[in-house]
Amino acid sequence: MLVEKNVPLQPLNTFGIVARAHQLVRVRSEAQLHEVLADAALRPVPKFVLGGGSNIVLTGDVKPLVLKAEIMGRRLVEETPRAWVVEAGAGEVWHDFVAWTIEQGFYGLENLALIPGTVGAAPVQNIGAYGVELQDRFESLDAVDLETGQNFSLRAAQCAFGYRDSVFKHPPALDADGRPRGHGLAGRAFITRVRFALPKPWRPVLGYADLERRQAELGVDQPTPQQLFDWICEIRRAKLPDPRVLGNAGSFFKNPTVTPEQCADIIARDPKIVHYPMPDGSIKLAAGWLIDACGWKGKAVGNASVYEKQALVLVNKGIADPATCATGGEVMTLAKAIQTSVYERFGIRLEPEPVVV
Ligand code: EPU
Repeated sequence: MLVEKNVPLQPLNTFGIVARAHQLVRVRSEAQLHEVLADAALRPVPKFVLGGGSNIVLTGDVKPLVLKAEIMGRRLVEETPRAWVVEAGAGEVWHDFVAWTIEQGFYGLENLALIPGTVGAAPVQNIGAYGVELQDRFESLDAVDLETGQNFSLRAAQCAFGYRDSVFKHPPALDADGRPRGHGLAGRAFITRVRFALPKPWRPVLGYADLERRQAELGVDQPTPQQLFDWICEIRRAKLPDPRVLGNAGSFFKNPTVTPEQCADIIARDPKIVHYPMPDGSIKLAAGWLIDACGWKGKAVGNASVYEKQALVLVNKGIADPATCATGGEVMTLAKAIQTSVYERFGIRLEPEPVVV
């Protein structure tokens, strides 16, 4: 086991923020992880699990031991009359895994193409796009408890998936004596492998405005999985910045939900507000629209700015040179200013999506 010291993290986070890890171990197998947890010097050190670094904002050097998830492998576990069950190691690049499933003829992940990050990070925030969320295709996962060293597996119900949310984002609740109680697993679980059940027969998930537009333009009524995959890639490439050019962590805020009364109140003032009724009766508002309406597109704090084509995405304009690179502090100052202005105009508190480290 190699413990790397003072490791530059800029290439390991898609925001391209300059920071260092005091100590970092690349975890390529379960056995290596158990070695770390059995090591007398490393066992007591707090740990931070890093996947593709696509959903984090680094605000300084990382003092906990960074465990970089690099467990690889992808395979068909079984094929039943109702589904293909496929598995991938946590370190696999999400998009490459999606592309592989389609090449193999295992369909159902195409709407989630081109989401940055790794397979192991995907369940943490229940990634979603174009009408499909990870939880719709999730079967189970394997993980290691970083406190006890125990291996465990979780099925969907145990992951408490919500909108960009899961058990892995919540700290364990504490009882009256301050002892951990309940199932929050934030900071505790190292996800090693994830399995997906891809339902048969395959049916395209359409109905999203951008996809309907593409269908109409091309006159395609029933797209193939490959066509749908290609459309999603084209739509995302046109709308979202490439992190190799402009550092970013995808959507920076969650889309907020409000009551129908709150929504009616906002519509009375801003009839154009983009809103979607949810199955539970609440109304989801497009955070990008709210930010855009407050005039934020293109505005900056230092080299952290609001993306010109999608106000929900904050970008680091200076990744090419450490001297011009946005800091995590600048990103957070910009984020707080946006939150304040959206609150002042609409009375809505936006919640950041990435994890602030
Ligand atoms: N809009 C504006 N101005 C903007 C941005 C958006 O008016 O600057 C409007 C759009 O015109 C549209 C609406 O807001 O009517 C929603 O925009 P879009 O369809 O681009 O989707 P989104 O709500 O901004 C969500 C996810 C994305 C996902 C897309 C597609 C969240 C926080 N974001 O974005 O996920 O790719 O839908 O399904 O739920 C991510 O989580 O990192 C992410 C990129």
